[in-house]
Amino acid sequence: MKKLVSIVLIALLVLTVFAGCSQKQMTVQKGKLLMATNAEFPPYEYHEGDAIVGIDAEVAALIAEKIGLELEIADVDFDSIIPGVQSGKYDMGMAGMTVTDERLQSINFTDSYATAVQVVIVKADSDIKSIDDLEGKKIGVQQGTTGHIYAEDDYGSDAVTLYQNGALAVESLKSGKVDCVIIDNEPAKSYVKENEGLAILDTEYANENYAICVSKENDALLKAVNDALKELIADGSVQKIVDKYIPAE
Ligand code: ARG
Repeated sequence: MKKLVSIVLIALLVLTVFAGCSQKQMTVQKGKLLMATNAEFPPYEYHEGDAIVGIDAEVAALIAEKIGLELEIADVDFDSIIPGVQSGKYDMGMAGMTVTDERLQSINFTDSYATAVQVVIVKADSDIKSIDDLEGKKIGVQQGTTGHIYAEDDYGSDAVTLYQNGALAVESLKSGKVDCVIIDNEPAKSYVKENEGLAILDTEYANENYAICVSKENDALLKAVNDALKELIADGSVQKIVDKYIPAE
């Protein structure tokens, strides 16, 4: 009898462990979809009054709706998004974030929903006419971005000044503290439009893909977000939002 009881108990234990492994739950913070972003990156995310608006904010709202969760956005420093997603503080990161091999070591990405290029902003009257003129110049970048990584790899860390966001880097360019800013093309266009006397070099610096990052521990959430994103790309919803924020020239 005793033996039977232990066999049953062991069987139950094995079943519980098995069920626990195979049915990984989609876990989120507080029953909401908590997205981390850095809302200094128009037209992907920026402040409009009290609200955070932009392509990422709107696509994320549709994703949350599709998976039946309420979206909450946390506006944090760009370089704290990945650690925060990794540790489970945020459910996902969406911030015009480029997929890189290095980032894939610590987090997972959904399919890509946009492409981008790194460009160089200069003063309109600058002697920097192409990327070949960057040697020996002072380069401003947003800390933790791909622009930061490329600039340091290509020109060394002494040449690079780090800023908490793109807007501050552009302010510094205007006041002459740096000679150029390396940043993604769409925010670059928006900064050049808002500030007189700036120009974007014709040469493209690097091509990239944007995607949403999710913890490696949360495959169920990654799948849910990715499935929703795929549907929104397929039915044209993502394109509609992009067209609203990036009107064809
Ligand atoms: N695409 C670049 C990267 O992933 C810059 C993204 C910056 N995004 C932001 N919301 N500030 O590194």
